[in-house]
Amino acid sequence: MDITFCCADTQAQPWLHDLRAALPEARITLWQPGDAPADYAVVWQPPQAFFTEQPALRAAFNLGAGVDALLRLQIAPATRLVRLDDAGMAVQMAEYVCHALVRHYRQFAGYEDSQRQRQWQERDIAPRSEMPVGIMGLGVLGQRVAQAVAQFEFPVNGWSRSAKSVPGVRCFSGAQGFHAFLAASRVLVSLLPTTAETRNLINRDTLSRLQPGAYVINIARGAQLVEVDLLALLDSGHVAGAALDVFQSEPLAPEHPFWLHPRITITPHIAGLTVRSEAVAQIAGKLRALERGESVAGMVDRVRGY
Ligand code: NDP
Ligand code: OXD
Repeated sequence: MDITFCCADTQAQPWLHDLRAALPEARITLWQPGDAPADYAVVWQPPQAFFTEQPALRAAFNLGAGVDALLRLQIAPATRLVRLDDAGMAVQMAEYVCHALVRHYRQFAGYEDSQRQRQWQERDIAPRSEMPVGIMGLGVLGQRVAQAVAQFEFPVNGWSRSAKSVPGVRCFSGAQGFHAFLAASRVLVSLLPTTAETRNLINRDTLSRLQPGAYVINIARGAQLVEVDLLALLDSGHVAGAALDVFQSEPLAPEHPFWLHPRITITPHIAGLTVRSEAVAQIAGKLRALERGESVAGMVDRVRGY
């Protein structure tokens, strides 16, 4: 069995080493233009030329949870697309959201300022019940984040495409449930995939429907947030602040107004880093399951877009 590896911005050698150790029965090589067709691929943001030259792949394993970059490419219909399913990212997403939420709620940035000014100054704290957290996307990552936020006893709302019942989460679904979900939330967290329906979903209208003094945490994809609308709502005071890990264009340009905005916290798309050991183990397990004709979790539905 031949496996080809084509991952942008990734140090290939450690991955090739670990994949070869996990799949000793396979011949695993770093893709070069002109290579013969392989049976499987491990990819992250490959160029179109990769899939054009690899029309016979039985499956392509995406080295991430989001497949928006893959679905922009022309890929042979018979190639199944399989994404990472948690693989060590869910706990990191939970850490990120809880950190941003608690930092905002307990005003820790303000205490850091006070320390710099040698000020011993207590700040008021709102009742926790007034800080309902709305999580868009109740999939693998969203449910883990919801569970972590609930542990801190914040009220948790969740919104998904299909109706769900998640313990400790007030669930809303579909377009018909969206406005009620927003109206019930002061903190908005996105854990949605980027699709035609979710692109630019966090916009002036959406943000205006959140409870005043809203806080936005986007750790899904930058394409979901209309950046100028966030700036306008921050200016108006309706949105109190934002923690952003993802941007319309990455890396964020040095002149972008987000960098120096006093109420925006920025990280460079690190909310859920790929954990190589877990990703390799998951890919090896799924590849063997597919070879046995079994179904696997994380199969991408190309029509649905995630
Ligand atoms: P899943 O596919 O498991 O979950 C997606 C969730 O979004 C599901 O609950 C789904 O609803 C819901 N959803 C999709 N479309 C809509 C819609 N139109 N309206 C309402 N709900 C919708 O994905 P993951 O949890 O694994 O990952 C989520 C995203 O997180 C990824 O796509 C990726 O973009 C991002 N990500 C970012 C990382 C980072 O470092 N910043 C790291 C990893 C992922 P339903 O349950 O009904 O299908
Ligand atoms: C992912 C990511 O989708 O890292 O996994 O953004």
